[in-house]
Amino acid sequence: MTIEARPLCESLGAETRGVDLAGPLGEKTIAEIRRFWLQHCILLFRDVSWTTARHVAFTQRFGDLHIMPGIGHDVPTNHPEHPEIMVVSNVKRNGTPIGLRRAGWGWHSDGEDKKLPNMGSLLHALKIPPDRGDTSFANTYAAYEALPQTTRDRIEGRLGRFSRAERHEANYPNLPPLTEQEKRSRPDIWHPITRTHPETGRTALFIGRWAVEIEGIPKDEGDALIAELTAHVVKPEFTYTHRWKKGDAILWDNRCTQHRALPFDDEKYERHMQRTTLEGDTPYFVTASGKRIESFGG
Ligand code: SIN
Repeated sequence: MTIEARPLCESLGAETRGVDLAGPLGEKTIAEIRRFWLQHCILLFRDVSWTTARHVAFTQRFGDLHIMPGIGHDVPTNHPEHPEIMVVSNVKRNGTPIGLRRAGWGWHSDGEDKKLPNMGSLLHALKIPPDRGDTSFANTYAAYEALPQTTRDRIEGRLGRFSRAERHEANYPNLPPLTEQEKRSRPDIWHPITRTHPETGRTALFIGRWAVEIEGIPKDEGDALIAELTAHVVKPEFTYTHRWKKGDAILWDNRCTQHRALPFDDEKYERHMQRTTLEGDTPYFVTASGKRIESFGG
């Protein structure tokens, strides 16, 4: 089987051809998919028709799976029979939500506020609204590489504090506030805001909507820098927006991308997606002199 990967646009992403994810896949094929994934940061597969169990089994070929913790008291996050599947959906059955509504309506990489941010995610489209409901992706290598040298010198090797407790209400206005117990279970974490990708060795900008402080920079200046960098990452020249078709599946690399779901009329239309999430490792940055700076806290 020869797999092809055709670029989706100049900034990032490729569409694969010549592989049926529902069929048997040998080690060589998985290695080839991984190679394209690392090269293009996001990989699109079309017409994927598989069972939920197969979605889980395919993702496990790339690493250990992460089980998403519940958010809020009554909001279902995961599939009842396959907890490795996060259900991103506004569908209700018998008046009860079956998944997390409005998940990811803001730029982020998965798990960026955790000690071990997630390596990757695989989102499969089961029901798509006729109008919008797209997902945008940003290439955070390209964003880093386009920074002026003065900014790079200012931020390289610095740590940023990412705080679920401080930013939950701003980032998830439709969810209940965190309980004290939930806040304790998601302590603040310091991550290098320039991050060395552990497989490609390239540097990516690692900053996002949970960042609240930059080490060694006064609060006002730090807030302005966070706002500048988060706006920079998602400039049109670093992004791709995907208009979903039923059966599309996208595997993205959280270590070098950000993404966000675009709002749609979720009172009128249904959108139903299932996502698996890969466990990650400790973010780090290797300086020009070889010093390794790692995340800490959490
Ligand atoms: C997510 O952030 O994983 C959800 C993205 C989407 O639903 O488009």
